[in-house]
Amino acid sequence: LSKEIAEQPAALRRLVRDGQEEIENLAHAINTSEDVIVTGCGTAGNAALAGTYLFTELCSRTVTMIPASEFRYRSRTLNPNSLVIALSQSGETLDVLDAISDARQRGAKLAAIVNTPMSTLDRAVNTRVLLRAGVEQCVLATKSYTTMLATLLLAAHASTGRWSTGADLVLHAADAIELMLDDGSRDQIREVATRLAKAEHLFVIGRGSHYPSALETALKIKEVSYLHAEGFAAGELKHGVIALVEAGTPCLVLAPDDATRTDTLSGASELRSRGGRIIGVGSTGDAVFDDFIKIPHAGVASTIVESVPGQLLGYFTALARGNDPDRPRNLAKSVTVK
Ligand code: G6P
Repeated sequence: LSKEIAEQPAALRRLVRDGQEEIENLAHAINTSEDVIVTGCGTAGNAALAGTYLFTELCSRTVTMIPASEFRYRSRTLNPNSLVIALSQSGETLDVLDAISDARQRGAKLAAIVNTPMSTLDRAVNTRVLLRAGVEQCVLATKSYTTMLATLLLAAHASTGRWSTGADLVLHAADAIELMLDDGSRDQIREVATRLAKAEHLFVIGRGSHYPSALETALKIKEVSYLHAEGFAAGELKHGVIALVEAGTPCLVLAPDDATRTDTLSGASELRSRGGRIIGVGSTGDAVFDDFIKIPHAGVASTIVESVPGQLLGYFTALARGNDPDRPRNLAKSVTVK
């Protein structure tokens, strides 16, 4: 796990260097379709959801996310003007393959963002982007997630003729992750993880494009440390979740320097006033944080960078609890059954 986390900067740079033609083709397919649906499972599903925010933000396109296992219940309106983009590391997840065959039967155009060349998914679609992340062995998806986000960000830029702006953003994110892995952040994250290891629950909040990051951060932590972690849209807190916060409950708050920050911080204050212990993640500290994980600012690519603290928190919390981060219980790298 630790090795694959460290491979992310190189994987992102490789995607920018070698992926342009495929990503431009995907952007063309998006531009020539009336409606666009993204689908995937688990981490790939979180990347797909992040894509819906990126497309709205960067090219004013409404893209719908359907979890692959739910696809068939929502596919009735697909037609030959629809484009379905399936995201998958393995290209073998049964729910994803079922979604693609459903979409095919309805005449939709098919695309994939996939890490495994010649996988079933890769061979099933007309348009595909290979993630080029290299073999991902650990059950926990890390470099496949960040390269999926980068692909979507690049495709959103390419669809408005701005490949090089997107490329610069991804390269900047790669540098930012490298910096984070090299400087003191790792040790600081390990320290936070030592405290998390003793907790029973963790809540993770973010707004806008940071909401999928909150889901993914929680997923990474629970998959490997077995700490109950849940991600929420920060604004939803007051509609129920806040009832669960007690003195000392750890709450991780994604608070980047963008338009979401002020409202996210006010959510953090609400949590704190109920006794929550606030772990801030962002490039600027705030008085409401009890712990602060500083990450480099990366603009619209910050969703890529902010996923790394979650990966490391999962890793170190697992170690602190005596779990093997490379062999999480009950999980398979690729789920090829229903
Ligand atoms: C399994 C893995 C997850 C992964 C999901 C989708 O559940 O444990 O880590 O995100 O499958 O896998 P895929 O290969 O389709 O990306």
